[in-house]
Amino acid sequence: MNKINLTTKIGTLVFKNPVTVASGTFGSKGEYAHYFPLERLGAVVTKTVTRAPRRGNQMPRIWETPSGMLNSIGLQNKGIDDFIEHKIPYFQNIKTHLIVNIAGESVDDFVYLAKRLDSVKGVSALELNISCPNVKKGLEFCARPDLAFEVVREVKQATKLPIFTKLSPEARDFLGVTEAVIKAGTNGVSLINTIRGMAVDIEKRTPQLANIFGGLSGPAIRPIALRYVYEVKQAFDIPVIAMGGISTAQDALEFLITGADLVAVGTATFVNPTAPIEVVSGIEAYLKRKKHTSVSDIRGTLKVNQEQKSNGATAG
Ligand SMILES: Cc1cc2nc3c(=O)[nH]c(=O)nc-3n(C[C@H](O)[C@H](O)[C@H](O)COP(=O)(O)O)c2cc1C
Repeated sequence: MNKINLTTKIGTLVFKNPVTVASGTFGSKGEYAHYFPLERLGAVVTKTVTRAPRRGNQMPRIWETPSGMLNSIGLQNKGIDDFIEHKIPYFQNIKTHLIVNIAGESVDDFVYLAKRLDSVKGVSALELNISCPNVKKGLEFCARPDLAFEVVREVKQATKLPIFTKLSPEARDFLGVTEAVIKAGTNGVSLINTIRGMAVDIEKRTPQLANIFGGLSGPAIRPIALRYVYEVKQAFDIPVIAMGGISTAQDALEFLITGADLVAVGTATFVNPTAPIEVVSGIEAYLKRKKHTSVSDIRGTLKVNQEQKSNGATAG
């Protein structure tokens, strides 16, 4: 049996395998390097960096829920200056792609961040977080196709780096927003960000989170994420980084078969820090068992017939 080829291409980027990590769930630098060499990943996606430092939201800002968690961290980070000076040099020595996730409160913020990162050695791509549910204006840009279009078009003009735009099911017109960012030139979309939820302390009769709402992540949202990846892949020819409850190779394979180009492991790493590399070896084992030699043999091979397609549109 030949060696399994996990190589995945998106535009000019060649990833050694299709497995990455979800922004904000993988520390801010080398925390997970204690568990496995980061170069075993196809890419590392960093926690959102903003123009100025942010303290994040009041605590408590994490709450465990059935099959998932709520978080309202609020994009805590030390800002772009610290990021370029202290975080990027760490990644420059690690032989994998670095995708830097950025967020702003205005188009100008996004453009500023993109320009700052444009010529920094070691940055392979940007992920535009236009869908954070935990900060003021976080969801503003993905709420409307015209706003999403504007931010992507402006960033596109400000950088040569490929960009992935991160979207949320909180966008009412999800496919409209997706179409807008594609027209604006995004090189791919990241699906999905967390979905707002809440929990109540019945003794104190207060919300469990200081911010009342938090973004739901983990296995609880996996079927929703899969549905959005399916819908986007049916409607558009655009690379997708899929995330939402991916914890095992089986989960990842569901997304790859549905058409995802890369898969990102997020909340799962809090309970199993080696989950991302277990996903890599599990995909390889599956391909061997199925007598395939390349991950591209199974990507987007979901079998759905016409009758199912028309029924699916009216599900429920
Ligand atoms: C604690 C926590 C912090 C997160 N921080 C960010 C962030 O800074 N930027 C971002 O784009 N997404 C952030 N996310 C969302 C994840 O990247 C991912 O889209 C979401 O959690 C779904 O994947 P998962 O279910 O595998 O965690 C965060 C999620 C969690 C749980």
